[in-house]
Amino acid sequence: MARKLLAAVALLTLGGCNFYYNDVPSPDDLMKAVPWFDHMITSRAASPYQRADIPRLTVPGTVPVTGSEGHWATGDASKLQYAFDIAVADRVTNPTRPEETLAKGDTLYHTFCSVCHGTAGAGDGAVGVKMAAPPIVSDRARAYTDGYLYSIIRYGRGVMPMYGDKVYHPADRWAIVNYVRKLQRDAAPVAAPGGAR
Ligand code: HEC
Repeated sequence: MARKLLAAVALLTLGGCNFYYNDVPSPDDLMKAVPWFDHMITSRAASPYQRADIPRLTVPGTVPVTGSEGHWATGDASKLQYAFDIAVADRVTNPTRPEETLAKGDTLYHTFCSVCHGTAGAGDGAVGVKMAAPPIVSDRARAYTDGYLYSIIRYGRGVMPMYGDKVYHPADRWAIVNYVRKLQRDAAPVAAPGGAR
């Protein structure tokens, strides 16, 4: 009888214990010690990106035929790089009809960009003046390709943070590119400050 009880307790404990959640011990382990709470933690939905058979990033040397657009950040694309392959960026083409995305671009620009680059793109946003954000209506910015603008939004550059992790839908990033072009059309040309691309 005592043995059976011991075996039952051992079974319960073993069944409920899975010491690693995403490889890091967590307070959830306490919860999981209660077997009828553990279904959540073993659910695939709890760590959907952890499976080796579903790569999150495009495998080098391959071309995605659906879904992902691939990466052209330099170095490890899963880390914050703030740099990208300019040659690839310049070849990325704008798939949108700009006039149809301006309303969305307006909202997104004023959500993510104007705080630094200013409402009209003159580089005079409240944060921008503190970190010398350049105007985006300069001759230099006008000369950038759409793909280059898209890449700056996606990956950031220099001290400008990346916004690809916040504006993660490509169509939304293009909407911002199109809105930047509109600001450039509306503004009088401004000289670019020092510093290069
Ligand atoms: C936190 C402030 C900040 C925010 C927010 C920000 N930027 Fe920037 N941006 C900068 C700084 C600083 C630079 C200069 C980076 C460098 O020196 O390489 C820059 C550079 C740029 C340039 C290149 C300008 C040039 O003359 O070379 C473009 C285009 C640009 N940003 C667009 C955007 C867009 C679009 C957004 C919104 C998604 C955005 N930025 C959000 C700070 C910011």
